[in-house]
Amino acid sequence: MADVVKQQVAGHWDRRAAGFDADFGHSIRTPAERAAWDRILALVLPRGRALDALDVGCGTGFLSFELVARGHRVTGVDFAPAMIAEARRKAAARAVSIRFEEADAEQLAFAPARFDLVISRHLLWTLAHPEAAIDEWVRVLRPGGRLVIVDGQFNADAGPPPPGSARTSAEYATIGDHLPFLSGRSREQIAALLAAHGLIGIASDPLLDLVAAQEQRMVDEGRERRTHRRYVVWGEVAR
Ligand SMILES: C[S@@+](CC[C@H](N)C(=O)[O-])C[C@H]1O[C@@H](n2cnc3c(N)ncnc32)[C@H](O)[C@@H]1O
Repeated sequence: MADVVKQQVAGHWDRRAAGFDADFGHSIRTPAERAAWDRILALVLPRGRALDALDVGCGTGFLSFELVARGHRVTGVDFAPAMIAEARRKAAARAVSIRFEEADAEQLAFAPARFDLVISRHLLWTLAHPEAAIDEWVRVLRPGGRLVIVDGQFNADAGPPPPGSARTSAEYATIGDHLPFLSGRSREQIAALLAAHGLIGIASDPLLDLVAAQEQRMVDEGRERRTHRRYVVWGEVAR
């Protein structure tokens, strides 16, 4: 079943790759969103040196491009070929050097201790084996390396997910039961999970500035206002 699940997930994101960056929340559109992301990345990225960074489930490369703009050496992996193709197209258009590879985030081909930073946005919820994936990400981190998880908790009070979203798609309808974190996990649950997988110095932030900036944009653009709890959680491999 696992391969069927992954085929459905990859198929969904392949289908959405061309329009992914234009979907709400996937790109930075306003000064307030830019300010929020600058704060968030300054908060979570270790300072003072260029990092070997891995963006897992990189999609069209949102985090990868933010990282390379800050001087880091970036690899992005995603198992949806059309997402990787879009990420590569953008890198070529912007003349930036990022290694984008098709790969399963749950089973990486990298040697142990290859990276200073492993980061993901909006990936854990769609993994078939999120706990095994965390072990894999810890494996490729160096001693003292940092794992950063950006995600959110789907808020049932906010009504059903919008049409066109992954959770209402035909692909996810058939596999939802095989994705343990599909309904989202809280910030506290992810922090506990990282601790349970051996990370230390666990910290988190609720991304309130990003949430506020996106809510303002919903109002400004006349969109239905939806509030989700969002967060970033990070922890380090012991030295
Ligand atoms: C919601 S998108 C987020 C993309 C990107 N991280 C971002 O923040 O814009 C989820 C991405 O995770 C990828 N993905 C899901 N499961 C994966 C897996 N097991 N291995 C690699 N990529 C995966 C999908 O193909 C998709 O591109």
